[in-house]
Amino acid sequence: ALPVGYEPTDLVRLTDYGMSVSRSSVELRKAIMPEVTAMVHAARTDHVVLLFSSTYRSYATQKAVYAREVRLYGKKVADSESAVPGHSQHQMGTTIDFGCICNDFDKTTAFQWLVENGWKYGFSMTYPKGYEAVTGYRYEPWHWHYITVAGTNAQREFFNNIQQYLLEFIFENRSQLVSSYRGTALGAGWKPSS
Ligand code: DAL
Repeated sequence: ALPVGYEPTDLVRLTDYGMSVSRSSVELRKAIMPEVTAMVHAARTDHVVLLFSSTYRSYATQKAVYAREVRLYGKKVADSESAVPGHSQHQMGTTIDFGCICNDFDKTTAFQWLVENGWKYGFSMTYPKGYEAVTGYRYEPWHWHYITVAGTNAQREFFNNIQQYLLEFIFENRSQLVSSYRGTALGAGWKPSS
């Protein structure tokens, strides 16, 4: 769970950065824009377009998304593909859904590029194939979360390249680890919940 009422304070519109977007309103935290911009430019150099389809979602938006899923598909399916409000990485402003937000995204060159290169810019696919029981969610090839380059390096080196294992390790050791990121741009305003 995110802290109650959590809202990033440094959201910026991706259209102001010349990104390819599916809606003009898509936003991310300014703190991660140097990495996002570098990633997009590197992809463009490789003739790959990264389309930003869904990024920051407020608590209220996530509430509407989850309610719609329950209405359309029932609670069981909804819980496998939509976080309950207050629990989505999208609310952090550091998560991107790319492209079609559909199963076939993993057949695109954008996906292949992200698998090969996303980690160099701190991005990690949160819900990989075969780990549904570990993450609690269905495979989402389009959903990439910024965990810093130190994070993706650690994920690859020590956690079998599975973000969930890294996040659980951080959560279990949060009191010892929190001092190392307090005061950094991404840690600004963050307090461990318990
Ligand atoms: N689709 C992911 C699980 C979310 O709603 O954050």
